[in-house]
Amino acid sequence: MTSQAPNSPQGYKTPVGILGVGHFVPEEVVTNQDLTKFVDTTDEWIVGRTGIRARRRARPDQATSDLAVEAARRALQASGTRAEDLDLIIVATMTPDCPMPATASMVQHQLGASKAGGFDLNIACSGFVYALVTGAQFVASGTFQRVLVVGADCMTRLMNWKDRSTCVLFGDGAGAVVLGPVEPGYGIIGVHTGVNGAGGPNLTVKAGGSRLPSWSEGVNPGDYYLQMEGPEVFRFAVSVMGEAAIKALENAGLTSEQVALFIPHQANARIIEASRKRLNLPLERVFSNVEHYGNTSCGSVPIALSEALEQGRIQNGDLVVLVGFGGGLSWASVALRWGGLSNS
Ligand SMILES: CC(C)(COP(=O)(O)OP(=O)(O)OC[C@H]1O[C@@H](n2cnc3c(N)ncnc32)[C@H](O)[C@@H]1OP(=O)(O)O)[C@@H](O)C(=O)NCCC(=O)NCCS
Repeated sequence: MTSQAPNSPQGYKTPVGILGVGHFVPEEVVTNQDLTKFVDTTDEWIVGRTGIRARRRARPDQATSDLAVEAARRALQASGTRAEDLDLIIVATMTPDCPMPATASMVQHQLGASKAGGFDLNIACSGFVYALVTGAQFVASGTFQRVLVVGADCMTRLMNWKDRSTCVLFGDGAGAVVLGPVEPGYGIIGVHTGVNGAGGPNLTVKAGGSRLPSWSEGVNPGDYYLQMEGPEVFRFAVSVMGEAAIKALENAGLTSEQVALFIPHQANARIIEASRKRLNLPLERVFSNVEHYGNTSCGSVPIALSEALEQGRIQNGDLVVLVGFGGGLSWASVALRWGGLSNS
């Protein structure tokens, strides 16, 4: 029998928590009104169906690693961690700077994280929460002391600006956390992950991989863009988001009544509202900033977490639940008890 810290998921020898959080979004704001100049849509439709009013767009010379590095620097500062003390960097992204090298290696270099290992993790918009679960394992096992987990995407690079059913939904941004040991009873206390590959064709970028290389004949321009069966993905999201939160809570022996702040993937205000009802939470216990940024994919949950902290919405001891969902179709959730920072 391995000894286990109280309230930590099965197999955690050391309790693992978030020591610091940071986020970065590019400067350019693209409003719904801006979009109406080149695509057949209205502010009223976008706000009514999605809750989105604006999104950010990276400059042509900015790539995912640039956003990731800025968010990472802020998380390092917030946690009082020096880059050279990082053991591992995981970058969750579906829009890497290029297929190779991994975005994590660019982040490592830019930060000067001289002793860190690193890798990218791609499970679409669920990526950050999956990366959190993954990174936590290294701390929980005692292998590493400091793990940087970044969620970053330049989703505007995958948009077909003529497809009104997708281009109004997404934006660019990054968020990051530093993981490390915390006091028993704090940090990550419940996790859950899932994938349903049968639903994969509902949310795709077809070209640019080994099935349809970018140089192959028969690639349509549309194959480079994100394509989505919106109503199918909507139904999936509504059914999975609340359930995923409940599973992570059950894993920790808790229920949604005890949740101080629910931080769901920011894809659509109607999906967030449906999950709020499923969890029976009052409005003030659900965080949303989808209005300002749209769906930033892997950036979504850590940006929301970072802004929730800035706004004083999370206190030490609070039970916080994070849920991601997206292409795959995939989902992941984490229940965590905020605080319990030790001096190690
Ligand atoms: C995309 C989404 C907002 C569309 O909302 P919806 O209520 O399902 O709308 P539909 O796709 O059924 O389209 C309804 C109508 O609005 C139109 N429409 C779609 N996008 C539009 C836009 N930007 N502006 C105006 N009209 C639009 C459609 O053409 C359709 O018109 P029709 O009835 O004449 O055919 C919604 O399905 C959604 O949020 N899905 C999940 C998306 C998501 O979260 N993806 C990321 C997962 S990580």
